Amino acid sequence: MQHCNTARLLTRDNHSSGHHPQATLQNHGGRVHLGAPFAEGMSDHRIAILPGDGTGREVAIEAMRILDTVQAHTNHGFEQVTIPCGGQHYKETGEEWAEGSFEFCRDEADAIFLGAIGYPGARLPNGDLAGGSVILGMRAGLDLYANVRPIKLYEGVPHKVHGKFTQIWEPGMVDMTVLRENTEGLYHALLRRSADRALGREEYIPPEMTFPGLEGEVAYDPRPISSKGTERLVKMGFDIATTRNGAPSDGEKRVSCIDKSNVTRGCQLFRRVFDEVALSYPTIGTDHGYIDAFMQWLTRTPEYYDVVVLSNMFGDIATDLGAVLQGGMGMAASGNVGDDHAFFEPVHGSAPKHAGQNKVNPIASINSIQMMLDWLGRKNGEDELVTIANLIDESVADHLRDGKSLTYDLGGTATCSQVGESISSILSSKLSEL
Ligand code: IPM
Ligand code: MG
Repeated sequence: MQHCNTARLLTRDNHSSGHHPQATLQNHGGRVHLGAPFAEGMSDHRIAILPGDGTGREVAIEAMRILDTVQAHTNHGFEQVTIPCGGQHYKETGEEWAEGSFEFCRDEADAIFLGAIGYPGARLPNGDLAGGSVILGMRAGLDLYANVRPIKLYEGVPHKVHGKFTQIWEPGMVDMTVLRENTEGLYHALLRRSADRALGREEYIPPEMTFPGLEGEVAYDPRPISSKGTERLVKMGFDIATTRNGAPSDGEKRVSCIDKSNVTRGCQLFRRVFDEVALSYPTIGTDHGYIDAFMQWLTRTPEYYDVVVLSNMFGDIATDLGAVLQGGMGMAASGNVGDDHAFFEPVHGSAPKHAGQNKVNPIASINSIQMMLDWLGRKNGEDELVTIANLIDESVADHLRDGKSLTYDLGGTATCSQVGESISSILSSKLSEL
């Protein structure tokens, strides 16, 4: 995609040393030319980088390093535009992000990377998470209806249990993609409010409900589940299944519908729509399970799962448990994906107690960039970007198999930047042979 370099509110980021044009979105900036245009024949992608809070800022550096590495060895250029945001930014400036940031992500960026949101004590006057306009506002405001969370265990990754590192699950036996619905369910009211803030709309307040038999103070969150919202999520699940190799146990392509349809009406609708969509994919197997039982099967027979679809809060919870199977939150990447936009983020949060020490695992972020390039490549018909995404995956696999440079969460002593540098250098060699 070609851009004219007329983005509003952009100034060059003098602190960045990259050879590519980098910029920072600022609320006081002028209309500054972004930098040298890309050479002819280059594919040019503008990427919004939202480092956010705490360790999000550290892992964002490693995400950018991967984009720099791809740019250095291929014809794919990435104009990286950094947007300060999050709870800490809110405490310092009174804004979750500069005015115009949401519009920039929506209208000017080809893809978005988010580090993490969450700063101790940073709450908005209405009690919501400060920085919510960024993460939740984009999920709802950009209609990113699928939160795609791959759960894959690489060779060389141990599991930390009882404070010790052991191999519980086998590499090769854990390789599934979970799709969490991302715009409705129990998050609906909060998502809607967050998008209202991001878009400058009036704040949504859910209608009052009364609950017979409950007296005194009652707090509640409505949990709407729509057939349209379910249908598009489930379709994406089946489409993803067609591109994968099936479940590790038997190679069968299979989509599992996980719900609580024995109890809730929303889940009954979710399951009914799943069954309807499944009819259009006769070559892909189906499976049904309840979320409580799924928690057991996920840990005891993860090899059975290929693609899993579930509603918003169930997906939030299940994917943290899923992260344990892949070596912890430091390994869990994700994409918030809609029909037109997407942002990619590590599933881990800002981890305030580890922030500022250059110690957290950047692999979740590096694999989020992998997902970004895969998405951009498929969306724009740029097959080479899909190939490059696979090379990032292989570089991560080689790095972990070698096992010499691991962060603390995997039992090593390497720093965040050492791991990022190691993976980037493996990637450089692979890209040179492309
Ligand atoms: C996640 C996180 C978020 C969520 C928080 C930070 C709002 O837990 O992405 O899984 O609940 O969705
Ligand atoms: Mg979560």
